[in-house]
Amino acid sequence: MVPETRCLVMTGRKFSGLSAEGEEKTMEDGADRRANSREDRWSLRATTALVTGGTKGIGHAIVEELARFGAAVHTCSRNEAELSRCLQRWEAMNLKVTGSVCDVSSPVEREKLMEDVKSIFHGKLNILVNNAGTGFQSRVTDVTPEDYKLLMSTNLDSAFHLSQLAHPLLKASGIGNIVFISSMTSLIGIDTLAVYAATKGAMNQLTRSLACEWAKDNIRANCVAPGYIRTPLIEPLCENEEFVAKETNRIPLGRLGEADEVAPVVAFLCLPASCYVNGQVVVVDGGRTVNGNA
Ligand SMILES: NC(=O)c1ccc[n+]([C@@H]2O[C@H](COP(=O)([O-])OP(=O)(O)OC[C@H]3O[C@@H](n4cnc5c(N)ncnc54)[C@H](OP(=O)(O)O)[C@@H]3O)[C@@H](O)[C@H]2O)c1
Repeated sequence: MVPETRCLVMTGRKFSGLSAEGEEKTMEDGADRRANSREDRWSLRATTALVTGGTKGIGHAIVEELARFGAAVHTCSRNEAELSRCLQRWEAMNLKVTGSVCDVSSPVEREKLMEDVKSIFHGKLNILVNNAGTGFQSRVTDVTPEDYKLLMSTNLDSAFHLSQLAHPLLKASGIGNIVFISSMTSLIGIDTLAVYAATKGAMNQLTRSLACEWAKDNIRANCVAPGYIRTPLIEPLCENEEFVAKETNRIPLGRLGEADEVAPVVAFLCLPASCYVNGQVVVVDGGRTVNGNA
């Protein structure tokens, strides 16, 4: 348990303070989440992060956002050539990013990924963003056992097991954060997306459970639920003018979203500035899910 304290002072690499009873308490570096200066509240300097699925779309934007805030970021994807291109781009931008080829739906590859992370970051991880995911439209009556397994293993199994594997590293870092990338489909019913939506609904609940179970280890868990965001994943939908017109009408802000409008929200949830936000699902959808007029 985090010692109950009032009056916390940062002294070098340790935090010390007085308990409610007036007794002096000292916590290891990072055990307190409150940053003293505005600069520290809005910085990820000297932190480490793993973002799954960072070569495209929302994950790519998250990698860049976290790295610009000062984090050393590790990412992964299944396509080695694309990962190499991204790593070269980030190196040219002076961002600290490393990568592994990994299919997050594979238990063996997940373990190997976490071994890489452990070795590169010397056993300490501050941030895990469970972003890698996939989706496709299919009526419930047409969903095959293979479709079901692919969605569950890529979206949900990966997020659960990577969180489990990351737990010792997150705990060892002193200040841990997990952000799940779910979806607005976890909150509303949309036909042809039943299994995808089920994986995302489960992620929302996993967020709440971890927020309670791992707070004692100084690990927060939050979730970002995007609406329709223009990425390669939904490119076919974006090319369908009828779909875009219909959706645009439902979204109070009058347009689909962009990946770099999701990434800053994820970064906020990892920053010391949000240190009292825990177990929340933050919807980033231009108001789509609150629109009673649509
Ligand atoms: N775009 C949207 O409208 C939207 C809305 C709500 C939620 N989301 C969620 O946001 C997340 C990112 O979506 P996105 O739209 O950015 O998708 P995207 O454009 O398809 O990018 C997905 C990224 O994840 C990687 N990836 C996919 N499957 C993987 C696997 N099995 N193992 C490792 N990496 C994998 C991809 O690289 P490789 O294919 O090379 O492996 C790519 O880097 C997903 O969880 C998605 O469900 C998206």
